[in-house]
Amino acid sequence: MSRCEDTFLADTFWKRPVTLVKGRGARVWDSNGKEYIDCSCGYGVALLGHCHPKVVEAVRRQAEKLLTCHGSFYNDAREECLSKLAKMKPEGTDKVFLSNTGTESVETAIKLVRKYTKKKGFVAMINSFHGKTMGALSLTWASKYREPFMPLLDGVKFAPYGKTDKLEGLIDESVGAVFVEPVQGESGINVPPPDYLRQVREICDGKGVLLVLDEVQSGFGRTGKVWAHQHFGARPDILCASKALGGGMPIGATFARADIMDSLKRGEHSNTFGGNPLACAACAGAIDALLKENLVENASAIGGYLKKGFTDLDSKIVREVRGLGLMLGIEMRFEIMNIILRCLEMGVIVLEAGKTVLRLLPPLVITKEEAEKVLSVVGTAIREEEKKRALGA
Ligand SMILES: Cc1ncc(COP(=O)(O)O)c(C=O)c1O
Repeated sequence: MSRCEDTFLADTFWKRPVTLVKGRGARVWDSNGKEYIDCSCGYGVALLGHCHPKVVEAVRRQAEKLLTCHGSFYNDAREECLSKLAKMKPEGTDKVFLSNTGTESVETAIKLVRKYTKKKGFVAMINSFHGKTMGALSLTWASKYREPFMPLLDGVKFAPYGKTDKLEGLIDESVGAVFVEPVQGESGINVPPPDYLRQVREICDGKGVLLVLDEVQSGFGRTGKVWAHQHFGARPDILCASKALGGGMPIGATFARADIMDSLKRGEHSNTFGGNPLACAACAGAIDALLKENLVENASAIGGYLKKGFTDLDSKIVREVRGLGLMLGIEMRFEIMNIILRCLEMGVIVLEAGKTVLRLLPPLVITKEEAEKVLSVVGTAIREEEKKRALGA
């Protein structure tokens, strides 16, 4: 059967051979009725699980009332969302700009830095990922994403991630900000040493440049704290969030200190869909679910259980198990596509991060029993691959 997804839609995604049609909590079902435990969650979006009742109800109610309301009008759903976001905003930030995606939240940060500091340059990190629009792409490390679209923004330099010895030297007069992910996601779940972010903060303060934290993947409870940087005791000047924030609906948020946000004049940065009632209602529902159901704690509890289980596998083809909360990576000694497809066959969806890291971003609502199945399936797939390799297959 020829499908429009194959013939008409731009061919820019590597597809898994499965059509997903339904989701509840940590589980999704395909068009043949087969059930999977979803440790991909739409690349981290369904952090509260699929179709969380509070989010569904908020969206349903709002959909019957008002779908769209441009930012040039006040709106009650936006007001409610903002009042909830204000209570969980990252320490050190005072205001927020609403958008629709992670990359858009980074674009906003880039423009804020340029406007506030009047400087053109940035330092980002080796192995960073900040998105694929032209500005965010300029701060993204991988040349496979960058090269086809050169020239990108001028004046971007890259520093090693997780150590600060080269950072100070890279921050010259041209640089307005340093961009960092508190835990690097796309490049393989890299958790920096405990004092790294604090040192980056000190260097930024010493040099008089802004610190922008990209928590698009690590934020909103994923790592066992509402914001991942809270593990490391360093406050941002600007923070980018998206993915899980809308409980499954698209929303982006860029938080900033008031003096930084206020440097933007009316009309200098705006969008059509940012702060739309549907996304705002979903976000308000998602915040209620996250905080009232104590889901953040579950990230630490089940995350710790899974991390220990993967470490105890003690397989020769596993190089390292790492992560924080429910942001987990298993670095293998070989390419991992076979393991991902075998897990899929056995009813568990896992992601890649690069060619050799299995990435697991399970939802915070995952139960112990579901986590046990994940351990068992991923463990079996790894053992089978280990055996094949040992036999030289
Ligand atoms: C840290 C980080 N920043 C930005 C982005 C881009 O977000 P989006 O795909 O919503 O544009 C991602 C996406 O994976 C991300 O992980």
